[in-house]
Amino acid sequence: MPTMSTTLTIAVSKGRIYKEALPLLAHAGITPLDDPETSRKLILDTSREDVKLVIIRTTDVPTYVQYGAADVGVTGKDVLMEHGGEGLYEPLDLGIARCRMMTAGFADVPPPGGRLRVATKYVNCARRYFAEQGQQVEVIKLYGSMELAPIVGLADCIVDLVDTGNTLKANGLVPQKHIADISSRLIVNRASMKMKHAQVRELIDHLAEAVRLRNA
Ligand code: ATP
Ligand code: PRP
Repeated sequence: MPTMSTTLTIAVSKGRIYKEALPLLAHAGITPLDDPETSRKLILDTSREDVKLVIIRTTDVPTYVQYGAADVGVTGKDVLMEHGGEGLYEPLDLGIARCRMMTAGFADVPPPGGRLRVATKYVNCARRYFAEQGQQVEVIKLYGSMELAPIVGLADCIVDLVDTGNTLKANGLVPQKHIADISSRLIVNRASMKMKHAQVRELIDHLAEAVRLRNA
């Protein structure tokens, strides 16, 4: 009978989340042996022989974990809200990459007579939010630079992430309605939670402790 792999695979994206997750992972004894910002490797060995990191786009993290291609992952609540979270456990708020999901548009511009046009990469979140408000909208899917849409008349408003508000301000827009507070979460594949319970539990406990110590 083949021996079962005991490697724990963690999916994480480069950039902001990776940088902020590093100290938390270090608390769990996990230090990547390569820097994803400079290395072209997509699978990184770590200081722990039983742990590997896979470096993927943040929007792909729930998909990898859902299908068990990674046992656990770190991704933004925005990404999870948009994905739907099926097949995933979300045991821990890591409190990193904090921002807000908001609507934004021009100040003092009355809403259009017809249906509001909303540009966003968060189409599911936008549809859900405006439906809850009882407002009929047309949602236009974009993949980035949402701030441009109202300026060029593509949309009346956008749904995007806001932290300092500088990006909106630089484009003459203002934050309007708050949709959700966002931070990054640890997510776990349901089968891995059972089959690799000891490893997953240990990781959750160490990360939870790191979050507690950081907030103390
Ligand atoms: P990609 O480049 O892969 O398309 P991305 O540009 O959304 O992804 P980041 O900008 O690094 O990647 O954002 C990753 C996550 O960080 C987001 O999903 C969100 O949870 C959080 N985030 C995004 N912008 C901010 C911000 N300005 N401040 C704090 N957290 C943010
Ligand atoms: C994010 C987000 C907003 C901006 C908000 O973009 O998409 O545009 O941050 O932050 P602020 O309110 O502090 O200006 P990011 O900086 O990650 O750029 P990118 O999405 O183009 O990678």
